[in-house]
Amino acid sequence: MTHPIITDLKTRYTAKKYDKTKRVPAEDLAVLIEAIRLSPSSINSQPWKFIVIESDQAKERMHRTFENKFQFNQPHIKAASHTILFAYNPTYTRDDYAQVIDTDIKNGRTPKENREQAFGAFAFVDLNTDDNGNNAAWTKAQTYIALGNAMHAAARLGIDSTPMEGVDSQLIGEEFKHELNGYICDVAMVIGYHDSSEDYNATLPKSRLEKEQIVDVL
Ligand SMILES: Cc1cc2nc3c(=O)[nH]c(=O)nc-3n(C[C@H](O)[C@H](O)[C@H](O)COP(=O)(O)O)c2cc1C
Repeated sequence: MTHPIITDLKTRYTAKKYDKTKRVPAEDLAVLIEAIRLSPSSINSQPWKFIVIESDQAKERMHRTFENKFQFNQPHIKAASHTILFAYNPTYTRDDYAQVIDTDIKNGRTPKENREQAFGAFAFVDLNTDDNGNNAAWTKAQTYIALGNAMHAAARLGIDSTPMEGVDSQLIGEEFKHELNGYICDVAMVIGYHDSSEDYNATLPKSRLEKEQIVDVL
């Protein structure tokens, strides 16, 4: 199949070794961040926060979070250009949704007089919230939509990336306590440009289950 979307998705892959001399230009990073911001989420809840690790100091802090586990991902932090933390709010509330509704009003999407009515959609959050106010499974799922969107956008921009669930959520929570402000990071994405002599994954063929195994068109 020939199509620019398919080409992007076939050529993107999970980079395993980064060229430490190359950095993502600011204008491409801005496009990527805007693509992430524009990601859709259930009831437009946007229960997320994205922390962009760019400075040497921030990289040093992120590097430290691999002290206990997932050391195979650690070298990317300093060698690659940036790491983006995808964090979710584990206790998304009506007050959080009020920010979305007020933004909708500001942007002319919801008439001011319909503000109360707009909270009707929050019933969906209630369905996904336990007795302790925890809705982490639902909010975390939203961050994966942003992650998928980010991987695709990076491919379009010719930026290599590594999605990583191999991150220590607990140590990230401690190291970036202030910035996370109660949000939790279970997944991150490294971006940069691969080291062509050492990235074994760069030349491997793309491999996925056959369409017949996973798709039923009824
Ligand atoms: C949510 C998620 C988490 C992943 N975590 C890691 C990881 O911690 N380290 C790593 O090297 N690759 C990780 N991967 C990469 C997958 O192994 C990879 O996407 C998959 O094998 C398909 O290969 P491709 O990305 O090269 O097409 C992760 C991918 C996803 C989508």
